[in-house]
Amino acid sequence: MARETNGGRTEVSEVSRETLRPDQDSSVGGAHGAGMVLRPSNAYEDTPIGAAAARATQYQHPGDASLPHPDRCRILTIANQKGGVGKTTTTVNLAAALALHDLTVLVIDLDPQGNASTALGVPHQSGTPSIYEVLLGESPLDEAIQTSTHSANLLCVPATIDLAGAEIELVSMVAREGRLKGALSVAVLDRLGVDFVLIDCPPSLGLLTVNALVAAPEVLIPIQCEYYALEGLGQLLRNIELVQAHLNPELHVSTILLTMYDGRTKLADQVANEVRGHFGEVVLRTMIPRSVKVSEAPGYGQTVLAYDPGSRGAMSYLDAGREFAMRGDVTVGRSDSDDEQGAQG
Ligand SMILES: Nc1ncnc2c1ncn2[C@@H]1O[C@H](COP(=O)(O)OP(=O)(O)OP(=O)(O)O)[C@@H](O)[C@H]1O
Ligand SMILES: [Mg+2]
Repeated sequence: MARETNGGRTEVSEVSRETLRPDQDSSVGGAHGAGMVLRPSNAYEDTPIGAAAARATQYQHPGDASLPHPDRCRILTIANQKGGVGKTTTTVNLAAALALHDLTVLVIDLDPQGNASTALGVPHQSGTPSIYEVLLGESPLDEAIQTSTHSANLLCVPATIDLAGAEIELVSMVAREGRLKGALSVAVLDRLGVDFVLIDCPPSLGLLTVNALVAAPEVLIPIQCEYYALEGLGQLLRNIELVQAHLNPELHVSTILLTMYDGRTKLADQVANEVRGHFGEVVLRTMIPRSVKVSEAPGYGQTVLAYDPGSRGAMSYLDAGREFAMRGDVTVGRSDSDDEQGAQG
């Protein structure tokens, strides 16, 4: 459990790591910023049940643990054309973690599967105003925005099954790659006080993903800590470079999050080290552990933070959200050659 103190330092209790083996990296499910201070845990929190209760309490009453608002709305595309790596899970849980700390987050579900809409408890049956109508210019952005059942400052533009045809319908449209950018009205985002826009992409590099890459300056890549994790990443990076060169000069990878980390395997550590070697500081120190609670939550139309706030999965997304918001965009101020070194190792 991390807490901001008056001096801006972060206090960390033992509770967020009670399920870790002593040899596990303390940043799994509990990464904490520089300058951390361990405070002695009380006897009550030393039992697993007491610790889980303490975490759940912190979830329900985050108290003074507020996070800074970014200077201007940060728009991020959550992309990886590999399927099942945790794009949607990361989108909704990171959004929920930020919203819990009084930040306003708009999730755009750009995947016809509609999984982000489901996890946020937002209706998305065919015919609901959705990102499909927004992309086709049939509905303005604000008419498609819904508020999640989980939080008043967690907003979502849902995806309906209609979006499945959009890849083809967009092909013949004018400025087909820039439809989402054109629809993301700054006036609407300002009026709603949106701090972060998170765009959940489908597992492909098609026109929907390209629209997301054109609409956002920042890319967040979730990488699963498994054997084939890095396969296909080169193709994603090349596409990002192409979009950057031709359509969106601001585009860059600002955040990488390691997901489904299993501390019992050497492989997970090898993948994590390799990714950190390639991408350096862009990789969040917090890693998301493989956790049954994380995978169960969407079945109940919930984020893991709402489903089981005391779980390690919830705690790790809270930590990831805190680290992400506190550090800002780490690539700002870096030169292009730094970026290339980071990307190519
Ligand atoms: N940390 C985790 N621990 C356990 N299961 C997880 C974790 N993160 C995600 N999952 C599960 O793995 C599956 C894939 O996750 P998710 O849907 O977030 O991936 P995705 O990249 O969005 O997939 P797609 O490419 O199909 O859109 C889901 O069943 C999800 O519940
Ligand atoms: Mg998904």
